[in-house]
Amino acid sequence: MSSSTSIEQSAAVTWARDLVSSKSGRHLNLRAQSPTSDEEVPWLVTYDLDPKKGAVLKTRLAGRPWSLWRYRELLPVERFADRIDLGEGGTPLIRVRHSPEGTQLWLKEEAGNPTGSFKDRGLSLAVNRARELGAPGVQLPSAGNAALATAAFAAAAGLPCRVALPSDTPGGIVDRCRLFGADVLLGGATLVDSALELQAFEDGFWDLSTFREPYRVEGKKTMGLEVVEQFGWDPPDWIVYPTGGGTGIVAMYKAFRELQALGLLQDRLPRLAAVQMAAFAPIVRAFQSGEERAVPWEEPRTRVWGLRVPRSLADSLILGALRETRGAAVTVGEQEVVETRARFASQEGLWLGPEGAAAVVGFEKLVDEGLIQAGERTVVFQTGHPANYFEQGVETDRS
Ligand SMILES: Cc1ncc(COP(=O)(O)O)c(C=O)c1O
Repeated sequence: MSSSTSIEQSAAVTWARDLVSSKSGRHLNLRAQSPTSDEEVPWLVTYDLDPKKGAVLKTRLAGRPWSLWRYRELLPVERFADRIDLGEGGTPLIRVRHSPEGTQLWLKEEAGNPTGSFKDRGLSLAVNRARELGAPGVQLPSAGNAALATAAFAAAAGLPCRVALPSDTPGGIVDRCRLFGADVLLGGATLVDSALELQAFEDGFWDLSTFREPYRVEGKKTMGLEVVEQFGWDPPDWIVYPTGGGTGIVAMYKAFRELQALGLLQDRLPRLAAVQMAAFAPIVRAFQSGEERAVPWEEPRTRVWGLRVPRSLADSLILGALRETRGAAVTVGEQEVVETRARFASQEGLWLGPEGAAAVVGFEKLVDEGLIQAGERTVVFQTGHPANYFEQGVETDRS
């Protein structure tokens, strides 16, 4: 039951139609300012798509710059020409030279995004929407990289920004958030504690927490669109993703379904694999035990910061995407991550972030287990620049 129409704007480039609750199936107008209610999140954006539009899109893509905004029809921005754009997306695929025998491995290197991680994709869309729908400010709890991205895009949008970070967040992230003008709250052990801190404020700032608004998924969806296009519309067999809140898994699955509706992707979807840390693995535990929901994992015992997400509001969507693509879920150890970072630096000339390295270890385990087989093509997401975790993130004047 679709109640609303496409964005009514003659110059609109988007094919977005409305919002749908992934819980009840209820539809809402895209301009519903705060579609958040605990029972109904996550809300997802729907589009009017068919193979004719797919053919049009493919032709248009040929002439467009290589950035996230090349997929503008599949992004829910109303005033495209007036958007905030810091050059996000359009990241390279890098062929890994020494992958296990018979396998073909590429890294999707996200470190070149404006604040050094894939978080820029989702937060670009979320802040752009907050701006065009008149939010007084934006806020979110974060393991680190999402705070950086929010602070940067909010600065560009002229929106006040507040971020809450666990007390042991690397100092470089804190410094850079402040440099972008964000108000930084530090305290607690995980994102869950940080979220509680933000509840005290009553100034109506939009909550951009993972899956509490519908637009971060739309930005991250471009990771899936890019990979399929980079493989010449014949997608890889596997995509291996370091999973925290799971936005990327849900978003890439959404991308594949939309490409199918456009006639740009046939029946075979890439198989999605989630990688988490052995000491902190709510999604892997639920996947392996056949559960439809993930029980929160309260003790944050990993230094792979981006994967310290105790619970996800979209646990059932993540598990559904893994299962529907005949995917996998695997855990890795802290020491394996350290060793892989050293090996990739010395053998490949590639400096991996801890999350990207965790995903590489996960890939190698899936090969060892015989799930990923010789001849198959795999993309591993290298989600963030390791320098984001440096203690001193801000230049000092040495003159
Ligand atoms: C570098 C990095 N990789 C991976 C993740 C997990 O991403 P997702 O929430 O899409 O599962 C995060 C989240 O903070 C991160 O910062």
